[in-house]
Amino acid sequence: MLPLFISYTYLLLSTAVQIGNAAAGKINIFILAGQSNMSGRGGVVNLTWDGYIPPESSSNPSILRLTANLSWVPAAEPLHRDIDVAKVCGVGPGMSFANSLLRKDSRRFGVVGLVPCAIGGTNISEWVRGGDLYEQMMRRAKAAVHGGGVIQGLLWYQGESDTVSLEDAECYKNRLHRFFVDVRADLHLPLLPVIQVALASGSGSYIDIVREAQLGTKLENLRTVDAKGMSLQDPERLHLTTPAQVSLGKMLSKAFLQTSNPLSS
Ligand SMILES: *[C@@H]1O[C@H](CO)[C@@H](O)[C@H](O)[C@H]1NC(C)=O
Ligand SMILES: *[C@@H]1O[C@H](CO)[C@@H](O)[C@H](O)[C@H]1NC(C)=O
Ligand SMILES: *[C@@H]1O[C@H](CO)[C@@H](O)[C@H](O)[C@H]1NC(C)=O
Ligand SMILES: *[C@@H]1O[C@H](CO)[C@@H](O)[C@H](O)[C@H]1NC(C)=O
Repeated sequence: MLPLFISYTYLLLSTAVQIGNAAAGKINIFILAGQSNMSGRGGVVNLTWDGYIPPESSSNPSILRLTANLSWVPAAEPLHRDIDVAKVCGVGPGMSFANSLLRKDSRRFGVVGLVPCAIGGTNISEWVRGGDLYEQMMRRAKAAVHGGGVIQGLLWYQGESDTVSLEDAECYKNRLHRFFVDVRADLHLPLLPVIQVALASGSGSYIDIVREAQLGTKLENLRTVDAKGMSLQDPERLHLTTPAQVSLGKMLSKAFLQTSNPLSS
């Protein structure tokens, strides 16, 4: 723990010296939640990750990741490797998102802290308030704040698992709305920026219903980016490729900057 603590303190201090503004010393926290495409499967073929990290997703001393044991460490893909442990993780949108924010304005964003919480194959019912995934996400979010940060946004990419049964698909809109409202209430951030991704296709038959629910959910400071047309990985064509994840990260950062948020003004 000690070396980690020292290097982290050093990181904060050195960043504070460099940027010298109000954001210095505070970690700007983003929660990453949902299922496999948020967790990241870019470059995973036949249960093996190819290890390729594109420059847009590379590590940067100003990007941290909250580990499963709740410590901040320098972030590197795969961001979910100690969170989504039942699956082989690859590249997701998180690092590209954070790098993109820092490229736009490194002074304003200071240190970005990513809090990975996504788990592959999960349906929205499993993310209900009181359920394990929801409570785990809240614990991690609160630990992140306790470690010196301010929550700036939620990135959400989920829904594939709710395209299989008609009943689930029809309940999706209400469940999604409830989820966003509960997260904001429990974090005491009524206008927390939420950036969600609309699914392009799915293995279930009811993709259109879920997609309409996503695109039709209107809340202040909620933005939706559309994954339609993004490249999917062979042979299963179930997950975004690494280049698609890089593009998605940039889209998420652009959408975040369009929300009204202390950091984006
Ligand atoms: C993955 O497995 C399939 C079927 O076993 C094989 O045809 C393909 O070459 C493998 N691809 C890679 C990248 O290993
Ligand atoms: C927490 O996780 C980090 C990174 O995985 C590791 O370096 C560190 O030793 C762990 N700390 C504890 C207290 O387990
Ligand atoms: C959601 O997933 C869980 C775990 O796989 C399953 O037990 C449950 O039946 C699913 N719920 C719905 C509404 O599909
Ligand atoms: C991953 O995202 C793509 C694009 O939206 C979608 O077609 C696919 O169904 C998703 N896969 C999973 C498992 O969520």
